Amino acid sequence: MPVETSSIATVSLRGVCVDYAGTPALRDVDFDAAAGELTVIAGPNGAGKSTLLEVLAGTITPRAGSVEIRASSRAFVPQRTAISPTLPLTVHDVVTVGAWGRVGAWRRLDHASREAVDAALERLDLTALKRAAFGVLSGGQQQRTLLAQGLARRAETLLLDEPTTALDLDSAERIMCAMRAEVDRGVAAVCVSHDPAVIDAADVVVRLEPGGVMSPRGRA
Ligand SMILES: Nc1ncnc2c1ncn2[C@@H]1O[C@H](COP(=O)(O)OP(=O)(O)OP(=O)(O)O)[C@@H](O)[C@H]1O
Ligand SMILES: [Mg+2]
Repeated sequence: MPVETSSIATVSLRGVCVDYAGTPALRDVDFDAAAGELTVIAGPNGAGKSTLLEVLAGTITPRAGSVEIRASSRAFVPQRTAISPTLPLTVHDVVTVGAWGRVGAWRRLDHASREAVDAALERLDLTALKRAAFGVLSGGQQQRTLLAQGLARRAETLLLDEPTTALDLDSAERIMCAMRAEVDRGVAAVCVSHDPAVIDAADVVVRLEPGGVMSPRGRA
């Protein structure tokens, strides 16, 4: 299904600075991502990649700089390790939360939203596991569930933090296929990753250096 509005989904950051307790995590960062493209943010541990993604998701407000999001909706897929494995939810529950972005929290899902949940489960090969508790799944199954939650949102912008890290080839390929299908649908996808396969599949690669500085080359 194509994105639901005719607007062009792009994100644009200019001169963004983020500090944690006075220590800079992002310094004067410029960043753009376009609709219909997979933009990968690479760089070493601690460089500020997740921080940059959270600025795009709107969960961190920069100390300085501008954030322009020309998209009606954003889906943020955090790293599996950011979610408690004791969460008492089934796979279906977790994916349904993604559709709440369409209808409102705790609301009964409409037909289109139920379809979005089922399609996302199917796309990530999770239909047979939909009644399983999230916490008992393998790492790859948990990460696929989180991506399915993002897909169920049917957002114009998809933000993913290391979706294939520590996954086997099969799970990683399934995640990459789903990501590419969203991009082909016209979504602006931004993915933090060290994975060479993801970097190879990118339309644009940018690199953050230690200290939260965007590489002068901009596009690695
Ligand atoms: N909530 C926080 N409070 C204090 N410091 C933080 C916080 N979150 C991140 N940092 C610090 O900010 C810097 C950037 O962290 P960030 O998680 O954005 O890096 P990253 O590039 O995603 O690293 P990794 O590859 O390890 O995931 C690091 O030095 C980190 O220790
Ligand atoms: Mg990170």
